[in-house]
Amino acid sequence: MGRPPTNLHADVAEVLLDEERIRAKVLELGERISADYAGRELTLVSVLKGSLPFMADLMRAIHLPLTIDLMEVSSYGGAATETSGLVRIIKDLSASIDGRDALLVEDIIDTGLTLNYLLRYLRGKNPASLRICTLLDKPARRLVEIPVDYVGFTIPDQFVVGYGLDYGEHYRNLRYVGVLRPEVYST
Ligand code: PRP
Repeated sequence: MGRPPTNLHADVAEVLLDEERIRAKVLELGERISADYAGRELTLVSVLKGSLPFMADLMRAIHLPLTIDLMEVSSYGGAATETSGLVRIIKDLSASIDGRDALLVEDIIDTGLTLNYLLRYLRGKNPASLRICTLLDKPARRLVEIPVDYVGFTIPDQFVVGYGLDYGEHYRNLRYVGVLRPEVYST
């Protein structure tokens, strides 16, 4: 974990998605998911820690009975801004998803390596269905093709923080998604 930033907002070069745009998109995704899963038994599975704000807002935008579960994974090695592809489960599902309609909730898909691992892992738990909802998609950096069912925003290849996304574990509490100043992570 790096030195704490002294001014969160000052380290952001540009606001990519402000609070209002995020709120509107989450409501839209909630409506789509509510319509698609009407009458079914939905379980939202989110992946800590980045997806925490998105999960909290999305679950309240879905007006169906649902259950939630939380996983935490970490990738081995690699720099702070990269994913290595080797994934370790720190916290597993708390309850079985056997026979349930599972929707994996992510904050961002970058290389796709984390999700690729998680999809294989969760398919092995025998859910009735398994779909993916991500707030952000950064296709420029994709290394494995992943079928993503619900995408909030497709973003350019810039290092973003806020609304759950971190650099050195900080900036997650920003209400918006912003582009981190390069000098913050290159020094
Ligand atoms: C982020 C994000 C995804 C993953 C995406 O998590 O939440 O899980 O990286 O990257 P990928 O598509 O290249 O695999 P991170 O490992 O930074 O952990 P965090 O959620 O605790 O910030």
